[in-house]
Amino acid sequence: MNEINILDKSFKLYIKYEEIETKIKNLAKEIEADYGDKDPVFICILNGSFMFAAELMKNLNIPCKITFLKLASYSGTQSTGKVKQLLGLNEQIEGKPVIVIEDIVDTGNTIMEIVNALKEEKPQEIVISTLLLKPLAYNNQYPIKYKCFEIPNDFIVGFGLDYNSYGRNLKDIYVIKQ
Ligand code: IMP
Ligand code: MG
Repeated sequence: MNEINILDKSFKLYIKYEEIETKIKNLAKEIEADYGDKDPVFICILNGSFMFAAELMKNLNIPCKITFLKLASYSGTQSTGKVKQLLGLNEQIEGKPVIVIEDIVDTGNTIMEIVNALKEEKPQEIVISTLLLKPLAYNNQYPIKYKCFEIPNDFIVGFGLDYNSYGRNLKDIYVIKQ
């Protein structure tokens, strides 16, 4: 499928699954080298990160835990600027390295909220790993240690990312047609 329609919008193929898979495998190797002996806790930010988290975890051969946090910040294709934590943490992270798994970092507001909330639990460190980064939108308030792709400020769907809750199941990533 090179073009798809979701609700009132059209999208075209942007990043194929095979390319995503390769990047995630390389990222897994990097994380294994850095955290293989550190017993990290991965925190998958729902909903968008479920597919990225699953792919990353399947490729990680190190002792680690994974847990899930649910937040929301988008309505339609515009960031609302308001982020709220919906579901809390149920894993002990005090004194441990925490690796946040995000689908995409846009303005960075969500990441700051997550980092501030997690700091209260006194982890040893908090590092961010994101599938996608929009560097032109990013406020640069917290370092992004791991990333797979940098993209322009265009709205995308697929591989976990949605447009009004649709499109998360797409295996490839699609970009909106202007
Ligand atoms: P931020 O708080 O502006 O960094 O936005 C981050 C969140 O907005 C991500 O976790 C996504 O859920 C959502 N988001 C940002 N850009 C896109 C996009 O292009 N498509 C779908 N969701 C997006
Ligand atoms: Mg998200």
